[in-house]
Amino acid sequence: MTWVVVPAAGRGTRFGGEVPKQYLEVAGEPLIAHSLRALFAHPGVEGAVLVLADGDSRWPGWSDGSGRPVIACTGGDTRAESVLAGLAALPDSVRADAFVLVHDAARPNLRPADLAALLERGREDPVGAILASPVRDTLKRAGDDGGIDRTEPRDRLWRALTPQLFRRLQLGRALESAAADGVEVTDEAMAMERQGARPLLVEGAADNIKVTTPADLAYFEFLLARRAA
Ligand code: C5P
Repeated sequence: MTWVVVPAAGRGTRFGGEVPKQYLEVAGEPLIAHSLRALFAHPGVEGAVLVLADGDSRWPGWSDGSGRPVIACTGGDTRAESVLAGLAALPDSVRADAFVLVHDAARPNLRPADLAALLERGREDPVGAILASPVRDTLKRAGDDGGIDRTEPRDRLWRALTPQLFRRLQLGRALESAAADGVEVTDEAMAMERQGARPLLVEGAADNIKVTTPADLAYFEFLLARRAA
């Protein structure tokens, strides 16, 4: 059985508007609830720690009726601080070497088969694994003047998605080390890579989007409606 840390303490400033993006509603439910439902759809998920912004009073609570707990805690100014707070809030029954999933609250369209594949393959890896999707566009590296310096070969480039699966203690230490060095890591794997670890890439569907713009929200609405049809 595996616990999940769900960072949901972002301010969602890139989205614009009053409501943090994780609270935007689709089909009558906030994105957080959709993300939790996708996670709890796997019988191997034991419970979740939901990391909320300091002073967040919007969270109404959520349960899938199975009795598996969703524990709320308070996050920090960066995603890494929020994940660290989530790891600290895990129950004592979660051992230091136990694998823990981390999944963005703003990724509501996680497919059951992708979560299953990540858990299966990641647990067999000494380090852990992340869901990722191959890059399909041609990528350019820009110079300071806005001109193209070069084209990055895309055949080995992947977009990092979540969930990401790492051992509780190792991930905590990696995130703490990045913070101590003043490095802002944008996902858990980046913190692990800084420690010399090489997490496994598990290919997941490209529509496991992080809702960042109004267009992403409309896309998720479409995906959800198509699933229900
Ligand atoms: O900002 P970004 O889109 O990378 O956020 C990814 C996830 O991390 C979101 O679910 C967001 O709520 C969360 N986050 C957090 N604490 C922060 C910043 C982001 O929990 N300080």
